[in-house]
Amino acid sequence: MWRYVSRACSPTFMRRNLNSVVAVVDFCSAVSVSALISASGVVKGMEQKIYRPPPQVRGMTCLDREAFTQTITVPALRVPTGVLNKVVKSLKKSTIQRPGLPRVIHDKEECSDFRLVLLDPHKVTSAASFSEDEAEALRSFDVPEELQNYELQLTYHNLKTEEVLEAVLPQGQDVTSAFSRVGHIAHMNLREHQLPYKSLIGQVIIDKNPGITCVVNKTNIIDSTYRNFKMEMLAGEENMVAKVKENGVSYEFDFSRVYWNPRLSTEHQRVVELVKRGDAVFDVFAGVGPFAIPAARLGANVVANDLNPESHRWLQHNCKLNKVENKVRTFNLDGRAFIQGPLKQELPALLKGKMRVHIVMNLPALALEFLDAFRGLLHESPSDGTLPTVYCYCFSKDENPETDVVKRASHSLGFPLEGRSSVHFVRNVAPNKDMLCVRFSLPTEVVFSGDHGQTDSSSEPAPKRQKCEEAADSASYIHSSVSEG
Ligand SMILES: C[S@@+](CC[C@H](N)C(=O)[O-])C[C@H]1O[C@@H](n2cnc3c(N)ncnc32)[C@H](O)[C@@H]1O
Repeated sequence: MWRYVSRACSPTFMRRNLNSVVAVVDFCSAVSVSALISASGVVKGMEQKIYRPPPQVRGMTCLDREAFTQTITVPALRVPTGVLNKVVKSLKKSTIQRPGLPRVIHDKEECSDFRLVLLDPHKVTSAASFSEDEAEALRSFDVPEELQNYELQLTYHNLKTEEVLEAVLPQGQDVTSAFSRVGHIAHMNLREHQLPYKSLIGQVIIDKNPGITCVVNKTNIIDSTYRNFKMEMLAGEENMVAKVKENGVSYEFDFSRVYWNPRLSTEHQRVVELVKRGDAVFDVFAGVGPFAIPAARLGANVVANDLNPESHRWLQHNCKLNKVENKVRTFNLDGRAFIQGPLKQELPALLKGKMRVHIVMNLPALALEFLDAFRGLLHESPSDGTLPTVYCYCFSKDENPETDVVKRASHSLGFPLEGRSSVHFVRNVAPNKDMLCVRFSLPTEVVFSGDHGQTDSSSEPAPKRQKCEEAADSASYIHSSVSEG
């Protein structure tokens, strides 16, 4: 792979005078980048140029890794083995840093008492490129600052994802290789111009990200009530059952059939930390359990619900996986039926026992509309004690999101929450669209109002609207993704 080429004289009289363009002629000529050196010695756009794959890969749709192989010239320094480690340490800012490339190689022409330290061609163009500290270190180790030219074979494996895709995709087009990671699955949201290259992109993501064995593209086609997006396999093995860990808790689920968002881990933790041993938690839209299971592990008694039968099945599975099946009771109901069924039945005894009760409602596009289900829920008011704390998630596009969501929550509840609620910013899901959590104690006036009226502000049935929410949320978080996974 490595081929020794020549020893280029790099005289010490070309000492580092970075203000002098003359000082950079030596190695520059070897890599044909002298034009990129500015008068101040700053190298512009050189990295890409030197490592850029051969032009013939442009337009490739079926990945041919061999086609990326090329020979490039890099500077190297001949160093006695006795001081090798010290020299490499002193030059760590100048040595070559490429995936899969060693910084030190054998000097094949000479005896084994020397090694060659490969230098970054866009940082070191001549002996004059070394900083004062580096030059001083070399002097102290008696290492002559003579650069040699080395031809090295740069392969597909030494390129970064962006470098491969930039070389393949049409010139000038945006190369977004961002994906969200869920266990072994990378999910992308490819743009139109990337679609002809989708299988190549998927394969590159697998090659460059250890542990990822399956890449999917979330298309914007809504598949069914619970399978919010149709997922298209791009590359790898088609295994959609992901195993993930979030805040130290294990979850397993079929990613193509349930909701899972790796960006909610901090929010899950934040709310779970508010729960104490012995508390009661009702999770109205529980998904596969990221609030319910950690709360149960903390010693809370949990009742968790999800309308999606697949979510419900994986929720039960995850309870067993985390050995909390005795602490979590699960339901497969519509949220309103859950509030007016199991929650309503359990609440009087809990209030009587002065238990702290938490009600988590994470269905951001719709949860506010479920708040009217609490109106007139109970008949007999407890003499004292606090009513349940509600954590209701919502989206807002308003200029003043806090005011907006409190107003909407108040409207649905039929009771002003201004001054008796707090709003937590969760995350920005799209430009001008925030996800927030409104937290409040259910007012006695609402729960014992005898008013069963509902503010149905929408004429569409819930499942249909839910799909729209998932579509908007998921699409936006993928677009803002920066390989978090
Ligand atoms: C945004 S996800 C949240 C899941 C989980 N709590 C989390 O934080 O990851 C909303 C969940 O609500 C469920 N869902 C949607 N509509 C529902 C409804 N009308 N009643 C109960 N659950 C519903 C979905 O299946 C989904 O699992």
